[in-house]
Amino acid sequence: MRQAAVRAHTNIALIKYWGKRDEEYFLPMNSSLSLTLNELYTDTCVTFDETLEADLFYLNGKQQSEQETVKISRFLDLFRKEANLSVRARVESINHVPTAAGLASSASAFAALAGAANLATGLQLDDQTLSMFARQGSGSATRSIYGGFVEWNKGTSPTDSYAIPVDDADWDIGMVIVAVNRSAKKVSSRVGMKQTVETSPFYPSWVETAETDLQAIKEAIKERDFQTMGEIAEHSAMKMHGSMLGANPPIMYFEPNSIQAIQCVNRLREQGVLCYVTMDAGPNVKVLCRLSQAKQIKEELSKYFNEEQLLVTGPGEGIRELTKEEVTAYGWKRS
Ligand code: ADP
Ligand code: DP6
Repeated sequence: MRQAAVRAHTNIALIKYWGKRDEEYFLPMNSSLSLTLNELYTDTCVTFDETLEADLFYLNGKQQSEQETVKISRFLDLFRKEANLSVRARVESINHVPTAAGLASSASAFAALAGAANLATGLQLDDQTLSMFARQGSGSATRSIYGGFVEWNKGTSPTDSYAIPVDDADWDIGMVIVAVNRSAKKVSSRVGMKQTVETSPFYPSWVETAETDLQAIKEAIKERDFQTMGEIAEHSAMKMHGSMLGANPPIMYFEPNSIQAIQCVNRLREQGVLCYVTMDAGPNVKVLCRLSQAKQIKEELSKYFNEEQLLVTGPGEGIRELTKEEVTAYGWKRS
């Protein structure tokens, strides 16, 4: 038996990935840039076990459906192929992030799974290659291999579309997450982006402006110009949602409470607090801010949302192997 357990943090894109040019290899239409978050993460343990006849997948202690397990098997096949292995695996994963609720569980999930499969197979792939493997589980996972600000270059082929760290974000950066609704969304990112690419007349301008925005935000990050970075990120998120609204049928992830959170952020900004909104494929709102002002922003939001709905986080690190103690604490059987 060969076993390894890895932690990966989620990331929230400031320049979003929205749309694939190749669905088989998860090649994006546009390059993207994200911030890895400290408080939201996935821990995954992979055990290759000769006695197993099929892969098994447990999420938060519950065995998952055949449909979910097939996704994991296909992903592990990438590693099995590379390592020339045919052994089946038990995958045990714990999400410290709501699943499928627009808080990027698939990003931390596939980065953690990639990291654990890499160690358990003994492949010793470098981070760049690992990022490309993670990409084939979920696009946003490409970026969760690294900490801080991370750029995913769309590349030209399956072998050069990977993420690179841009900046460690160690300069008073944070996010306040407003969990408007933690239940699983009705339209997955995968389905939503496909529908947008295929039917939205606004989609071409999304792709075009995403590239310009990416260059501008990288410059702002380099200059540590928080205001410009925030303005570009907020505008980019709204353009992505605009492209979705133009899809046929339209896709709308906003809920009344999402708007309420956005209006609260606008008011804070009028009062001179620099904070900016971003939203993904779900109703939850993420407020990009100075970590030193996050408490004040949370207090304002707590007039409309309860304590369980608000989470403050700073930048997170890249993937790391879990310690023996951490593995034992989960009750995962050690091999
Ligand atoms: P989210 O906004 O949470 O990223 P997605 O719809 O993009 O939502 O992805 C959610 C999907 O990711 C789940 O339905 C499941 O297939 C997969 N997933 C989530 N957590 C895990 C995990 N810990 N291990 C493996 N797959 C996971
Ligand atoms: C809006 O990475 O979840 O969060 O590649 O189909 O698994 P798949 O999609 P996914 O989409 C993420 C979309 C987004 C923007 C982003 O994270 O860049």
